[in-house]
Amino acid sequence: MEKKPLYITDTILRDAHQSQAATRMRIEDMVPALEQLDKIGYWSVECWGGATFDSCMRFLNEDPWERLRTIKKHMPNTKLQMLFRGQNILGYKHYADDVVDMFVKKSIENGIDVIRIFDALNDPRNLEQAIKSCKQHGGICEPAISYTISPVHNEEYFVKLAKTLENMGADVICIKDMANLLLPYDAYSLVKKLKESVNVPIHLHTHNTTGTGDMTYLMASQAGVDIVDCALSPMANGTANPATEALVATLQGTERDTGLDLEKLSDVAVHFRGVAERMKADGILDPKVLNVDAKTLLYQVPGGMLSNTISQLKQAGKEDKYYDVLAEVPRVRKDFGYPPLVTPTSQIVGTQAVMNVISGERYKMVPKESKALLRGEYGKLPAEVNEDVRKKAIGDDKVIDCRPADLLEPELEKYAAEMKDKGLGKSIEDVLSYALFPAVAEKFLTLRDKAPEEENAVRELVVEDLSV
Ligand code: CO
Repeated sequence: MEKKPLYITDTILRDAHQSQAATRMRIEDMVPALEQLDKIGYWSVECWGGATFDSCMRFLNEDPWERLRTIKKHMPNTKLQMLFRGQNILGYKHYADDVVDMFVKKSIENGIDVIRIFDALNDPRNLEQAIKSCKQHGGICEPAISYTISPVHNEEYFVKLAKTLENMGADVICIKDMANLLLPYDAYSLVKKLKESVNVPIHLHTHNTTGTGDMTYLMASQAGVDIVDCALSPMANGTANPATEALVATLQGTERDTGLDLEKLSDVAVHFRGVAERMKADGILDPKVLNVDAKTLLYQVPGGMLSNTISQLKQAGKEDKYYDVLAEVPRVRKDFGYPPLVTPTSQIVGTQAVMNVISGERYKMVPKESKALLRGEYGKLPAEVNEDVRKKAIGDDKVIDCRPADLLEPELEKYAAEMKDKGLGKSIEDVLSYALFPAVAEKFLTLRDKAPEEENAVRELVVEDLSV
């Protein structure tokens, strides 16, 4: 094999603390290490998007846009990367195209270089606008395949999807294995097939939830994957991504040598070890997240979804039905056309399975999210839907087959006008914050702009709150 370095993206500023510490890392926790991080030589550092945007305003009283500008200022030499939920941007519903476009434009203007764009259903129409905007505004466009396992999600399906994404303008394609379901030998085979089928680099993202992440990366690197996502060791593994240092050491002196310096990595890890220790002491980081989750290997249901199911059953006083629900999940998933289990579909399928079991009759109770999914409002489901189930759930409601965002009128002006009426905000970035999370942003912007002394008081309060 010829020499070809494996490139590393470090997720320490985004996915690592989102997965292990409820997205609570603050800008103060980052700044002292940014210049060191900038000198490592990563392919990129993931630092924004996902749940960080909401968390900044909701829990940390921090302006997410300001955070991005601060990171950029201290890291001028490293590509900054964000995670973008397609037409849902960083929220949980579909937004109109004008909001998607402006969000992408402002993300790039404020410092983002690489935008990873995914859709829970792998419906390319939900990625269309974000991809177009990313290209237009000069970003590196990295659409993602949401990886899952089902009778329709085979290599042929993923290769076809990758070709579609390449034709849509992908600069890089990501395999996004959020639940750590992609096993090492399957990763080898899938990466090989993708490398034969598309011309753009392949970027693999997995976690170590089921304990197989490092092996998956090793096999993928043998198969020629171009870039992988790791996290610096103080917040790596378990529900987060495999550790950067371990992979760097493993590949040293081989044809896939990453070229990264273990000593430099070790120096910058010192800082984040301190951050992780503080988070443990504050109860934000529960060492339980490091346990290997063998149930996911058995049932192919993401770890987070199982804990959600347990808590729903507890609320209903039906904890004894746990294994019935576990058996029901794949049946519901089949009825619904095999959606990948990722936010928001994991919650929809999980909740429906719980209701089917505790009500004693399948689809007697159908939440509105299940109905919306079956009406096509989230996009096209990967496989045929069980029509009897659909009929029972939504009756004669119309099923849409167009791109869901085509039904939405432009929204940006409306949000800007609403904010003007309320005397809120100073910039288009503020309008975007408000468009995504109206109540949270209103509270945050009011504090930020109208009551500086109060802001400080609240900041202290929030910090205190987290330490209990
Ligand atoms: Co992830």
